[in-house]
Amino acid sequence: MFNIENFDIKLNTDFIGRVFVYADELASTNTFLMNKNSGYNQSGTVVLAEKQLTGKGRKDRVWYSAPESNLTFSILITKDKFLFSNSSLINFVASLSVAVSIENLFQLKTELKWPNDVLLDGKKSAGILIESISQGNKIERMVIGIGVNVNQNSFQGLFNYPPTSIRNELGRTVEREKFLAEILNNFELLLEKIKHNKTEVLNDWKAKCKMIGERISVIENDLEKFGIFYDIDDDGFLLLQTKDGIEKIHFGDVSLG
Ligand code: BTN
Repeated sequence: MFNIENFDIKLNTDFIGRVFVYADELASTNTFLMNKNSGYNQSGTVVLAEKQLTGKGRKDRVWYSAPESNLTFSILITKDKFLFSNSSLINFVASLSVAVSIENLFQLKTELKWPNDVLLDGKKSAGILIESISQGNKIERMVIGIGVNVNQNSFQGLFNYPPTSIRNELGRTVEREKFLAEILNNFELLLEKIKHNKTEVLNDWKAKCKMIGERISVIENDLEKFGIFYDIDDDGFLLLQTKDGIEKIHFGDVSLG
């Protein structure tokens, strides 16, 4: 059981999580907040579900998460001109806020994998799915879905990347309430920071990305490309150095080799 009072005491934000919805079961927290008719339209609203019936991952994958063990939640952003015109940067805000929170609370070393996976000891501990609704070419609603493996201790099924949890890496159960508040506190701080000091946020992100400078393969739109992970540009896109020059990659799955 998630204790909302314990969460609230640790929440130190102006608007993120100030409207907080706790659900025993939902199809998907992202799907719930993407729906304008959900009744929740205030920017910063957070929805946490103990169980998702059809948790969604990137690239139409399924996100499996043991009920009541982990954190599966979504954050709604409705009014943010900067983010809506720099939407690729939200990946960095979200994944860095999870990584920094893990390091602050549990002193575990995190690694970030482009565009937004959080790894512990080379295994995936958190994934992020960002969805948005546009009117013409203008985003009007953005939902940042975050799944963190917190206290789950075994993983069944086929994963495109080996999973782990905080508990497995730390050797003890952790308090989800304090952890969620820490993530939301850092999320709001980084959201503000990226508007004024994008370079610093991107540099902090890059410092945790060990693949930069390595030979990688990227699958973008079913096409596999090989090269050196040269850098991440100011818009958050991956720059791949190939034999033909530097190519900008917008989305994709990156692996070493
Ligand atoms: C990925 O790595 O493929 C992204 C996983 C994102 C999972 C989270 S759990 C909360 C939110 N609701 C969903 O249906 N998906 C995201």
